[in-house]
Amino acid sequence: MTLDEVRAKYLAFFKEQGHAIIPSSSLVPQNDPTTLFTGSGMQPLVPYLLGKNHPAGSRLVDSQKCFRSMDIEEVGDNRHTTFFEMLGNWSLGDYFKQEQLRWFFTFLTDKEKGIGLDPARLYVTAFIGDKANNVPQDTESAELWQKLFSEKGVEANVVEIGSEANGYTVGMQGGRIFYYDAKKNWWSRAGVPENMPAGEPGGPDSEVFYEFTDIEHDPKWGAQCHPNCDCGRFLEIGNSVFMQYIKQEDGSFALLPKQNVDFGGGLERIVAASENSSDIFKTGTLHVLVEHIQKSAAVAYNSSKEATAAYRIIADHVRAASFLIADGVLPSNTDRGYFLRRLLRRSVRYADKLGLPAGYLASLYATVGQQYANHYPELEEDKHEIIATEEAKFRETLARGMKELERFVGQGSLSAQDAYQLVTTYGFPLELVIEEAGERGIKQIDMDGFKELLKQHQDLSRAGSEQKFKGGLADTSEATTRLHTAHHLLLKALQTVLGPHVKQRGSNITQERLRIDFSHGEKMTDEQKAEVERIVNEKIKEDIPMIRSEMAKEEAEKLGAEHEFGAKYPDRVSVYSLGPKEATEDNPMHEQAFSIEFCGGPHVAHTGELAQSGVFKIQKEEAVSAGVRRIRAVLQ
Ligand code: ALA
Repeated sequence: MTLDEVRAKYLAFFKEQGHAIIPSSSLVPQNDPTTLFTGSGMQPLVPYLLGKNHPAGSRLVDSQKCFRSMDIEEVGDNRHTTFFEMLGNWSLGDYFKQEQLRWFFTFLTDKEKGIGLDPARLYVTAFIGDKANNVPQDTESAELWQKLFSEKGVEANVVEIGSEANGYTVGMQGGRIFYYDAKKNWWSRAGVPENMPAGEPGGPDSEVFYEFTDIEHDPKWGAQCHPNCDCGRFLEIGNSVFMQYIKQEDGSFALLPKQNVDFGGGLERIVAASENSSDIFKTGTLHVLVEHIQKSAAVAYNSSKEATAAYRIIADHVRAASFLIADGVLPSNTDRGYFLRRLLRRSVRYADKLGLPAGYLASLYATVGQQYANHYPELEEDKHEIIATEEAKFRETLARGMKELERFVGQGSLSAQDAYQLVTTYGFPLELVIEEAGERGIKQIDMDGFKELLKQHQDLSRAGSEQKFKGGLADTSEATTRLHTAHHLLLKALQTVLGPHVKQRGSNITQERLRIDFSHGEKMTDEQKAEVERIVNEKIKEDIPMIRSEMAKEEAEKLGAEHEFGAKYPDRVSVYSLGPKEATEDNPMHEQAFSIEFCGGPHVAHTGELAQSGVFKIQKEEAVSAGVRRIRAVLQ
């Protein structure tokens, strides 16, 4: 069965059960500043799971585009992808466990209404209970599953698998229904109950696994195999979350006003099960992409492990990049754009290894479109140029970086400074540095020193930046650094002209321009804009020093250092202050600074350097949302 067929069947099946089919939301979450990407089907529905009425009713079904950035480095095996479609159905305080488990089981096993899987190849799980959090064992689900299997004549013993603490060592025990702890059978966006912030919904869940009998258990993953083992014998194909709880301020759990069901199942995985193929890259769209790449590679039909991983990585990454681009994301060094850039750079690197011609990755945009545009028309617009530009730029940098690496051949080890330079100047993802160095006989890299350098230079001040910059890629080019300093001047100038209510709400800096979102209720007048420009340019002319200091977070707060609304900071922070003229690192004179901000830099040493890029100019001022304005500005 194709992706289109399985998707259509699932939607039709749940429509039959009274569900309204809703369209997929964008990969860029709307009205949710807490996450960069839509990573599960439930995410756009959180307000409704918390109790709000959904206009389409209390039974919903969809296929949602998802992107999970934490899986980037997992890609290359037979089942991990960064982009995937999640089939989802929801009960918003309507039906519960009984209907959900029966319907999904019927969809999986029925030959007409569903996809006709052999029930004997299905294994299921339920929550063992959590005394500390007062959540009981989910015996109801286990009993329902027993009934469903027995109706199909399949024996279904219920067993406990132990806990993470004992490494789930007890194995299959002849079971079909397995009780696991919260690590495996509790779902919330933040994971286990302990990790959930107050206000987050979650609940026990019940997963279904498909067994590939041709795969032998690999003891590398543990002495005993069991449904949640990572050896590849079992593939999770669906998860019914019983979204009943909400975390309270005091850490306890309260029942939500409505008992919801949040079901999610990876479409590609379900297709793989329907074809009894343990490799999702051998099915559907991914197969089309992999074949295309394999045929175009200079090392054609090379089925080595490395080549296979490279095909899969390019197929996954370019597909994800195409969907992100279609949803309006552009490559950059921050936030969403950073991940898009990382996907594309990793793809270029593997394209280079496989000898794929220049421009090849961009050509795949159309291939992705052909595969998906009937269901996702946003892919119809031709945006391959975005990939082409990034590909061309990084191919050049990659070539230069590779040359640079040759300099270190024969020296046996790579210093922290050299590794850091490859990451920042050449934009090499860290894993690329490690691998390429290894291939050149350089076995040792000063990783601790590298991490220290990265920490010193990275922007500690921006929320979650540690996560975002995990693989390197901080842009320390001159142009970006100057704009970063201009950004500080601009924020202070806005406060001076518009008033102290102006607070930063977001920012984004590229080599070409800076962007700031700030709280302010009205459109700025031409006079106000001119005055802001005048102040910034005056401070550039004054050539005041930019001084970095480290201090306790409380101390920085006492000094009135600006920080971004809603951002979280570590206990020790890096702070940048601008001026006065006499300030030095030893005597930073914070109290007399023109501006002071929580920030990790990098910045210029003196504002006069900004003049080398040009004059500060506001290009655009517009509304982003109620009470928040956005300015785009340049040094030109
Ligand atoms: N929200 C659940 C998941 O993502 C269904 O697995």
